[in-house]
Amino acid sequence: MAPNARPEHPPPAVVLRGLAKRFPGVAAVSDVDLEIQPGAVHVFAGENGAGKSTLMKLIAQIEPPSAGRIEVDGAAVHYQGPGQARRLGIAMVHQEFALAPDLSVAENLSIGQEPGRFGWISRGAERRAADALLRTVGLDVHPGQRVGRLSTAEQQRVELAKALAVDAGVLILDEPTASLTEQQARELFAIIRTLTARGIAVLYISHRLDEIFEIGDTVTVMRDGSVVATKPVADLDENRLVGLMVGRDVANLYPRTFREPGAVRLSVRGLSRGTAVRDASFDVRAGEVVGLAGLVGAGRTELARAVFGAEPPHAGTVTLDGTELRIRGPADAIAAGIGYLTESRKTDGLALQLGLDKNVTLARLPMRAGLIDLGAERRTAERERDRLRIRVPRVGRPVQLLSGGNQQKVVLARWLETGADVLFFDEPGRGMDVGAKSEMFQQVDALAADGRAIVLISSYLPELLNMCDRILVMRAGRIVGEVARADFSEERIVALATGAKDGHE
Ligand SMILES: Nc1ncnc2c1ncn2[C@@H]1O[C@H](COP(=O)(O)OP(=O)(O)OP(=O)(O)O)[C@@H](O)[C@H]1O
Ligand SMILES: [Mg+2]
Repeated sequence: MAPNARPEHPPPAVVLRGLAKRFPGVAAVSDVDLEIQPGAVHVFAGENGAGKSTLMKLIAQIEPPSAGRIEVDGAAVHYQGPGQARRLGIAMVHQEFALAPDLSVAENLSIGQEPGRFGWISRGAERRAADALLRTVGLDVHPGQRVGRLSTAEQQRVELAKALAVDAGVLILDEPTASLTEQQARELFAIIRTLTARGIAVLYISHRLDEIFEIGDTVTVMRDGSVVATKPVADLDENRLVGLMVGRDVANLYPRTFREPGAVRLSVRGLSRGTAVRDASFDVRAGEVVGLAGLVGAGRTELARAVFGAEPPHAGTVTLDGTELRIRGPADAIAAGIGYLTESRKTDGLALQLGLDKNVTLARLPMRAGLIDLGAERRTAERERDRLRIRVPRVGRPVQLLSGGNQQKVVLARWLETGADVLFFDEPGRGMDVGAKSEMFQQVDALAADGRAIVLISSYLPELLNMCDRILVMRAGRIVGEVARADFSEERIVALATGAKDGHE
């Protein structure tokens, strides 16, 4: 599309006029007018449920609009279904990945590539094309690998490669860095910059202020389905952006109150599972928030899963309040008082057909004998809805109809309601808007103040640095260092995580 000599003011890649999308009972997108420039990154920000993903699905021809029009490269688009996006040169990487877990990486990349047109797709050619795409996104896996066996970060790159397989003029990324480390995010930004240099328009949904300022050229803030403002990123600072996004003051993003920790509650000794977790030993005291830092693949999630019994350890002990536990599976861990908010929310046992009310009390039911009190269930759900600001018109609405961030809040609400003594939070802020994150961390602080023991896994260092009493750093399955709050520094943790300083291993 982009001519060699670009005119001073190139025509917009996408124009939206009066665009609207209504779902039963919800105006997800209302009356949006926008122009998207080629060769630039246009960020979309705003609270969970503001309508960002829905707007992108309209542009990507995944949903038909209820009203208004979309022009791509100057021509009005008439909705004909998702297949049309490819013809228009629009590709989208979704918030919830749409990969087929049982197919290989190469097969996933070729889905939607006009199958049958040449009778069959040559496996060799498919592999070679896949190789080239994977190199572009910096993914070092065998194209024959099953996608279901890849980490979330790797799956995200497969999604990106899949989008790039379309010769797109418009690339939509819905929270692409949610599962990436800082380093991986920087690599993604490098890829994005090469794409915009080629004239591609990148539409980028993000909740992360730091990356909005790093990669964004223009930012559109949405609230309640409408555009609140569209501004050059250079004209904004963090405070103004947060104000636009949340529409109220967020006094403190990390509301942690530190106090002297109590007795040891969780004690882990010599925990091992294959090469994923090797001889891990650590304690967490009452009232403590202990961070787990490390690169993706360092073993943080695997360590949490081993303690929780999701992947039972091959060796080692887990002791809670002085009693050694016998954990053969998650049910044992939950019964003993250990909770685990996983990083992959979709598989975290949300009953998608049921509402917030049922989901919030599900995890608790096995622990309570007797009748289910429906009134209490509704009151519990309403309390969680209010304290976490879950955007839902009524607590019985099926959670699959909620926005991605609001689904995550439902999972969080459920764990908050279990009353667990030890809680592992795995990337809990992922996908939450800044206001919601602040509220979530306030709950984490309240749990600690209540004498619980908290383990916080995050790839976003500012979260760990602001919220934790201590940070354990993992590399290659081992805990390679511990940093006390007084010694916190980003450099120190990165050095430990990458092995830059203490060169052994
Ligand atoms: N298929 C659907 N059916 C009914 N309602 C829907 C559907 N998809 C989205 N909604 C509703 O539309 C509104 C906007 O949702 P959307 O997913 O666009 O929000 P978002 O800005 O992407 O939020 P998040 O930051 O949490 O991802 C929400 O109230 C959501 O519940
Ligand atoms: Mg969304």
